[in-house]
Amino acid sequence: MDTTKLSERLAEAGQSHILQFWDQLSPEEQSDMGLDLENMNFIEINTFFQNAMKISGQSSQEKVDSRMEPVPREVLGSVTRDSGCLKEWEKEGLRCISENKVAVLLLAGGQGTRLGVPYPKGMYDVGLPSHKTLFQIQAERIRRLEQLAEKLHAKKCCIPWYIMTSGRTMDMTKEFFLQHKYFGLKKENVLFFQQGMLPAMDFNGKIILEGKGKLAMAPDGNGGLYRALGTQKIVDDMKKRGISYIHVYCVDNILVKVADPAFIGFCSLKGADCGAKVVEKTNPTEAVGVVCKVDGRYQVVEYSEITLATAEKRSSDGRLMFNSGNIANHFFTLEFLSEIVRTYEPQLQHHVAQKKIPFVNTQGQLIKPDKPNGIKMEKFVFDIFQFAKKFVVYEVLREDEFSPLKNADSQDGKDNPTTARHALMSLHHRWILNAGGNFVDENGTHIPAIPSLKDGTDLPIKCEICPLVSYGGEGLEHLVNGRAFQPSLMIDESGVHELVKNGL
Ligand code: UTP
Repeated sequence: MDTTKLSERLAEAGQSHILQFWDQLSPEEQSDMGLDLENMNFIEINTFFQNAMKISGQSSQEKVDSRMEPVPREVLGSVTRDSGCLKEWEKEGLRCISENKVAVLLLAGGQGTRLGVPYPKGMYDVGLPSHKTLFQIQAERIRRLEQLAEKLHAKKCCIPWYIMTSGRTMDMTKEFFLQHKYFGLKKENVLFFQQGMLPAMDFNGKIILEGKGKLAMAPDGNGGLYRALGTQKIVDDMKKRGISYIHVYCVDNILVKVADPAFIGFCSLKGADCGAKVVEKTNPTEAVGVVCKVDGRYQVVEYSEITLATAEKRSSDGRLMFNSGNIANHFFTLEFLSEIVRTYEPQLQHHVAQKKIPFVNTQGQLIKPDKPNGIKMEKFVFDIFQFAKKFVVYEVLREDEFSPLKNADSQDGKDNPTTARHALMSLHHRWILNAGGNFVDENGTHIPAIPSLKDGTDLPIKCEICPLVSYGGEGLEHLVNGRAFQPSLMIDESGVHELVKNGL
């Protein structure tokens, strides 16, 4: 292979070290590396690095407190404060779904490093009685919602599911869906596409090698979505299908209401082009990004960007003033997304994430650093809020809609398989109670509606309801009203199963 041109391009970009082990590589390794490097624009990568470092330097020094304003009440819809409107919003959302105007878009390109499994997070089984994976739960919610819209409007409809993967997750994700026959969805309505990857750089802007013939590559953040929507022709596909509204969400939230009709209906009735679902932040020191205005434009401000005094500020109603906790759950019109792809995407700057990145040293030995030695560059999905012409915020209850799977199980851990499993089972427990059902212990005594944890590790009531039976708690009365169940219950399409009674 002739490396002259490649060497010149690398020299021009100050990245010649990438080829330092070239002569030690086998012909196959050389060919693989050559292919990897051929399509990379090193000058562009250097520019990304410089801009990202500049912005990160500025934001680490500057607090934005004085430029922040909370979300005004008139753009806020709340499932508790506006509960009287919920039916109307839901009806509107279901109407949009029945007219095939709604698509869902899953962000599933992350590496899931904290969870630490060697496969995509969506394939994770948090240990529910059914052992369903996150992908299956989401797929079944989509199917149920299609059925609800079809029943209400007496016509067939479909919610296309766009799944963004990365070089790290694409093959396994596709294979998993194929193996499971797309969980009952039509293959042509499950569309995979791939986000971009960028090399990790050291603090001096040199690309890091993770092998003698291999760059350390990482996906370009969930905001890599916007570039991929253009390069992979996803916006075109949505246009062809007549989509108007898109619900974008993360793979790791076990409670996610995929294509939530009330959220979509609220955004659509408000004439919004961009909307963010949030949960109320109640603790000033919780490290969650908040949706607010900065210099008159909407954005997510990270906890580290504000002072404690601002984080603690309260409104006259006693709530935190900046309390719209971002849960990466968004509504966009297709028109807005098209405009982003066409016009604004190149203006979005990468954020810097300092990481410990394994690298080969000049002797060719692999070193695993114990402190950050470089950066990964990422765009964020919420970076486009600033371009919205009509932005709205939709506040939901955390216990009903948000429990992300980020970490592996550990004692007193947060956002792990145990917390995710408990969150789902406790939601389903509440659905049973609301539908008139009850739980009794082995002596037939009623278990209180809010049972205390037996030993702090597991729930006294195990309860799982298949999404094909109920999307959001509806349709359960005829199954449970007036009945008392043993505390291990599963409801699926074949009926109500008491797992303990049946020794399961
Ligand atoms: P996180 O930022 O929590 O990252 O992603 P992660 O990959 O799941 O986990 P860690 O940080 O490596 O432990 C939030 C959502 O954004 C998606 C993830 O798949 C998840 O749904 N994501 C993240 C992407 O789609 N692409 C990316 O480049 C990064």
